[in-house]
Amino acid sequence: MGTQTPETPAGSAQTATLVVDGVSHELPLVTGTMGEQAIDISRLRATTGLVTLDEAFGNTASCRSAITYIDGEQGILRYRGIPIEELARNGSSFVETAWLVIFGQLPTQAERDRFSELLTESSALHNDMGKHFDAFPESGHPMAIMNAMINAMSTHTRPRINDEESFLVAAAHLLSKVRTIAAASYKSHKGEPIIYPRRDLKYVENLLHMMFSLPYDDYEPVPEVARALNLFFTLHADHEQNCSTSTVRMVASSDANLYTACSAGVAALWGPLHGGANMATVQMLQRLHDEGTSAADLVAQVKDRSSGVRLMGFGHRVYRNRDPRSVILKEAVDDLLCALDIDDPLLEIALELEDVALHDDYFVERKLYPNVDFYSGILLRAIGIPLNMFTVMFAIGRMPGWIANWREVNMDPSGRIQRPRQVYTGPELVEWVPRELR
Ligand code: CMC
Repeated sequence: MGTQTPETPAGSAQTATLVVDGVSHELPLVTGTMGEQAIDISRLRATTGLVTLDEAFGNTASCRSAITYIDGEQGILRYRGIPIEELARNGSSFVETAWLVIFGQLPTQAERDRFSELLTESSALHNDMGKHFDAFPESGHPMAIMNAMINAMSTHTRPRINDEESFLVAAAHLLSKVRTIAAASYKSHKGEPIIYPRRDLKYVENLLHMMFSLPYDDYEPVPEVARALNLFFTLHADHEQNCSTSTVRMVASSDANLYTACSAGVAALWGPLHGGANMATVQMLQRLHDEGTSAADLVAQVKDRSSGVRLMGFGHRVYRNRDPRSVILKEAVDDLLCALDIDDPLLEIALELEDVALHDDYFVERKLYPNVDFYSGILLRAIGIPLNMFTVMFAIGRMPGWIANWREVNMDPSGRIQRPRQVYTGPELVEWVPRELR
């Protein structure tokens, strides 16, 4: 069995040849906008009886998508063609970025106004939804609450999406309410009264208000903080076919509604290898601080594979270079700490850890660099976001990407339910044994 990619004259259809037991099979090559090529194996089983095996999808494109482009070798990330650095440099607000990711281009003033209006209108929770918070234990993790509450939204208003307008309303509904849910889960966790959204505040300022105001004491917005949180959300808005987004697409492919699909995204994001890494990274830095462990000692532990210790906030399936989001965040952390006059000892530790790791053969050989989660936690800490809300913040930021991916699945007229194959490794045939003979 072998594969070859024949030299094909420009412009003609390209194929790869798979030879199985001496028989050649031509497989079409699909070329993306940026020139990356994929072998289309969708007819492989029909023509050869074979399936492909790619555990953990390390080498499988699960879909065609026009939303986000990543070049992991070069460290490039673009939303709808716009480099992430451009969005950061121009101070694109989260709402504007969300529109870009969901609808494909930057909004006109009229589109922005309409979107903002819809976000404001949808910000309050249905009164019955508010009652759910009473039933969660105070110690309940806000990610569990968020997951349950987004799903519960379908019980109150199941989105009926049958045209662009109803999709826009449902998307705004979700993006707006997710922020109210996040703040309310924080408040119920703290045992404080839930604070209602305000009509006069923008998206991020409203979230900070709902999290940090008290009935007798309004949170004073700090422009640097709002800017930093807008940037954090913008940098998290989408990241192509990661674990949570693939989950959303998988659920969406069964024709499940937008809210339910996105609540599945929250579940997938929670794990420490994915969105939970922002929390795990700060816990790791805090441990180093409290126990006085040096960066070199931690790196030695990580290299000892039997320890099971990973350097959190480092490494990425796709990036074999610096994660461009971490570069921007590192700078933003510096700016924010300086503006707020905060001296965070964890930043010192993070900087030292990065330096030690980037000069260590283990990390160099494996091309492991800081990812988005390495510095984001320090930024969130400076804003005053508590540790167990870090991944919730990631989820709010990722919502536009999940919504855009749900839409892409939903709008594809040739879309089919996603259903991977497997290679069965269990017993061949087992006979039933009566209970008394077992
Ligand atoms: N610490 C120690 N070793 C690592 C790490 C790490 N953080 N990341 C990768 N490696 C090793 C890995 O064990 C493997 O070693 P070997 O070849 O000897 O078996 C090698 O580097 C290559 O790993 P990989 O195939 O690139 O890793 P992966 O694609 O299976 O996993 C990852 C990607 C992000 C889960 C992993 O790098 C990791 O666990 N990082 C720490 C958790 C983290 O920061 N996650 C956030 C990811 S970015 C945001 C997001 O997705 O939400």
